[in-house]
Amino acid sequence: MGQHEQAVSIQNLHKRFGDLEVLKGVSLEAREGDVIAVIGGSGSGKSTLLRCINMLELPTAGTIAVHGEVIAMKSDGRGGQQPADRKQVQRLRARLGMVFQNFNLWQHMTVLQNVIEAPIQVLGVPRDQAVETGEALLRRVGLFDKRDTYPAFMSGGQQQRAAIARALAIDPLVMLFDEPTSALDPELVGEVLAIISGLAAERRTMILVTHEMKFARNVASHVIYLHGGEIEEEGPPEAIFEAPQSGRLKQFISSVH
Ligand SMILES: Nc1ncnc2c1ncn2[C@@H]1O[C@H](COP(=O)(O)OP(=O)(O)OP(=O)(O)O)[C@@H](O)[C@H]1O
Ligand SMILES: [Mg+2]
Repeated sequence: MGQHEQAVSIQNLHKRFGDLEVLKGVSLEAREGDVIAVIGGSGSGKSTLLRCINMLELPTAGTIAVHGEVIAMKSDGRGGQQPADRKQVQRLRARLGMVFQNFNLWQHMTVLQNVIEAPIQVLGVPRDQAVETGEALLRRVGLFDKRDTYPAFMSGGQQQRAAIARALAIDPLVMLFDEPTSALDPELVGEVLAIISGLAAERRTMILVTHEMKFARNVASHVIYLHGGEIEEEGPPEAIFEAPQSGRLKQFISSVH
C-alpha cells in the first residue's frame, strides 16, 4: 500500500574502477513517494551511484535492495562481485525507469515504438494495450503528434520528454534521472523540468541527479550532497540550501548559483 514502503535501499555501497575508489560507502533509503535529489561536483560519483542501482555498474561491495529484495551478489574471483542471479537483475531492473543525460532513445524506432518496446518485450503486455498506454503517456508529455517521428527529427527537449515517457511505460517503482537537462539548450530545459515536477507532484518515487539547484530545492523531499564518493551532507532541501553545515557544501551551493 504505497507511501511508506521501501523502494530502493542502498547500504554501504563501494565502487572502484581499478585503483580509483569512486564510491566509498554510500547508504541511501528511498521510500515510496520520496523524491531524492543527488547533487555534487563533477566526478563526485553521482552517475556511478545511479548506475549501480540498476546494475549498469557492478558495486564492488555493499548491498542494493529494490522493493525490499536484496540483489544477490557473488564473488567474481578477482576481488569484485557480480550478480548471482541474472534473472533477478533483469526482473528488478524492469521495475526501474532510467532517464539519461543524452536521452538514449533507439534511433531506428519511432517515438511510439520506443515507448512500447519494453512493455511488450520485457513485460509481455499485449501490443494494442501497450499502444494505448504509450499514446496516453505521449499525450501527457505533449508528444502525441510526434508519435510516428524518429528521434533524429526532434529537438533535445522533445527527445528527453519521449525518453521520460518510455521510462514511465513500464510503470516503474522508481524513476532514476541522471542530469536529464544538462545536454539541453537553455530554452528547452523548462519543458523537461515541468514534466519531472509533475511526476514529483503526484508523489512518484524518484532519485534525481541534477545540477539545477532551484529545481532540486522545489521538488526534492530529501537532498544528498556527494563529495569524493561520500555523502558529505544530507537532509531536507530547506536545510541543505538555506542552512548548509559543511564548508564544502556551502562553497558548492554558492558556486552553482
Ligand atoms: N567506467 C569507468 N571507468 C573508470 N573510471 C570511471 C568510470 N566511470 C566513472 N569513472 C570515474 O569515476 C569518477 C566518478 O564519475 P561519475 O561519472 O560517477 O561522476 P559524476 O558525479 O556523475 O560527475 P559529472 O557531474 O561530471 O557527471 C570520475 O573520476 C570518473 O572519471
Ligand atoms: Mg554524471
